[in-house]
Amino acid sequence: MGEPRPGRVVITAEQLRARIAELGGEIGRDYAGERPVLVGVLQGAFLFMADLVRAIPLDLVTDFIGLASYGESAASSGEVRLTSDLSMSVEGRPVLIVEDLVDTGLTLDYLRRTLEARHPKSLRVVVLCDKAEARTVAVRVDYVGFTIPNVYVVGYGFDYGGFYRNLPYVAALEPA
Ligand code: PRP
Repeated sequence: MGEPRPGRVVITAEQLRARIAELGGEIGRDYAGERPVLVGVLQGAFLFMADLVRAIPLDLVTDFIGLASYGESAASSGEVRLTSDLSMSVEGRPVLIVEDLVDTGLTLDYLRRTLEARHPKSLRVVVLCDKAEARTVAVRVDYVGFTIPNVYVVGYGFDYGGFYRNLPYVAALEPA
């Protein structure tokens, strides 16, 4: 038996480009006159973050936060921990969390509570892909790129065993 590999394309590079341009315009209008802090969630969001910030016509700053679920399994274990904190204070500042995926919602729920406790001026979330049918915790998402089915995806930041994050599109992982 070989390893699973990227198969059917779920979101093409062109669809990513077009939707991220729309999100950037929308975020630019909503934050007009503000200088938001965009918080990318490592590792998966690094490509989305890089493309999104270039689509937002505002003075903004970027920072990153690292989170991990306890346990080794692909399914979320339910416990989230901070592995790498922000480098700056967000107190009194408009904060936009940039995530690649909301699945069960546990990670985002933890992150929202963690950042709310630091008293930002506002706190919103942009997610590239929403697996809405997998949600176990209700969590508010302000901007959604794509709603996708509950299948394992790789590419454009999404990994399998650390690989395939560098694909310029999102594909379903398929058995060998
Ligand atoms: C993924 C994704 C979210 C989280 C969503 O991260 O980037 O942070 O899972 O799942 P949830 O809604 O069920 O909590 P992952 O743990 O795969 O880490 P990575 O970003 O480093 O790939």
